[in-house]
Amino acid sequence: MSSAQKLPAGRPAFARWMSVSNDITQQFLAIGGRPDFISMAGGLPAAEFYPAQAIAAAAQKALSRWGGVALEYGPVEGFPALRQAIAERMTRQAGRRFGPENVLLTVGAMQALDLIGKVLIDPGDPIAVQFPTYVGALDAWRMRAPSYRLLDWSAEADVEPLLGVKFVYTVPNYSNPTGALVPRAARQALLERVLRAGTWLIEDDPYLPLQYDGDAGPGILELHGRMAPDGPYDGPVIYLGTLSKSLVPGLRVGWVVAQPEMIQALTIAKQSSDLAGSMLTQAIALELLEAGREQEHVPAIVQHYRERRDALCAAARADLAEWFEWETPPGGMFVWMRGRDPAIDTDALYQFALKEKVAFVPGSVFDPSGKLTSAMRVNFSRNAPAVLREGVARLAAATKQYLGKNG
Ligand SMILES: Cc1ncc(COP(=O)(O)O)c(C=O)c1O
Repeated sequence: MSSAQKLPAGRPAFARWMSVSNDITQQFLAIGGRPDFISMAGGLPAAEFYPAQAIAAAAQKALSRWGGVALEYGPVEGFPALRQAIAERMTRQAGRRFGPENVLLTVGAMQALDLIGKVLIDPGDPIAVQFPTYVGALDAWRMRAPSYRLLDWSAEADVEPLLGVKFVYTVPNYSNPTGALVPRAARQALLERVLRAGTWLIEDDPYLPLQYDGDAGPGILELHGRMAPDGPYDGPVIYLGTLSKSLVPGLRVGWVVAQPEMIQALTIAKQSSDLAGSMLTQAIALELLEAGREQEHVPAIVQHYRERRDALCAAARADLAEWFEWETPPGGMFVWMRGRDPAIDTDALYQFALKEKVAFVPGSVFDPSGKLTSAMRVNFSRNAPAVLREGVARLAAATKQYLGKNG
């Protein structure tokens, strides 16, 4: 799914990494705005449930409480009161103490991925990634040209493949793109291998709040907290959180929790990226959290998303099961559909889907080598059950046309 970038005639060439980039994220965000399309591509929340009134009230309150402070450039590390609140939240979540020195506020978790690439990856450096891998992470690191090792989660996995890697990247809770929940024993075993290998471990956790079939179990930061409960945090886990999935992506508020030297390095990298995030949206986020809006919002959307997941899977069982197989995800936003015939090429199918005015994300963009062409990621959070059913019908029509031409 890579697309070489076109050069304007007679002008200097783009930097080399542009020739291996792809515009799939830009494409599916654009398709999401077209009313004639059913987009099951983006990892987007359901817009109709956005708590707009609560955000308007929080913005009013933030401005009267903080005045000009919320309108200034702020500290690179982020709005101090929100940093403190996130440190307290993570202390509760992980069961060991974190202070503001362990927290950097970022422009979504996406910026954290970019900053991690900046501070850790030199060209050719090996990194180990959960496979298939979140496309945004691959995008963020592409220009740094790392070499990839695919992470083995099994409890018997050897430490050897982690020796010398700059970091291990994981989404243990309801992964993007597969929706899979990594079992606790596998998390613990990975943490132990990471400690033995002496490397960093990124726990990217945007989907934690979206649990449909019971509790996610302890995260990796929490497991490490149990092993090292006392004193300042000096562990290998770099935890990424965000309000994008539990409230709204438009705030662009995310955070990193890590040991202080890593926070300091990321802060230096952030300074040259954007000087500082928006104090205004960080101040609004603080009001929302203090007023308990996230706790109120999450149970409501979880109920809708569970219904949507079930509607998508039921429609797919009726219309797509001849060609695809999948597991019902216990959380998150995606169903990962794998072709029963490994020769099925979802990059090619995608072109037929666009003609039918339906979109998904082809599997190849979740593979550092681009070879994973027999699977696709289908989102269920964004659309109502009836729209998902129509989307699946269109996808089935596109699949028949694709197989008619290629089967
Ligand atoms: C695994 C993963 N990490 C990070 C992000 C980026 O989220 P944010 O909106 O916080 O930048 C996403 C968004 O879809 C994601 O799925």
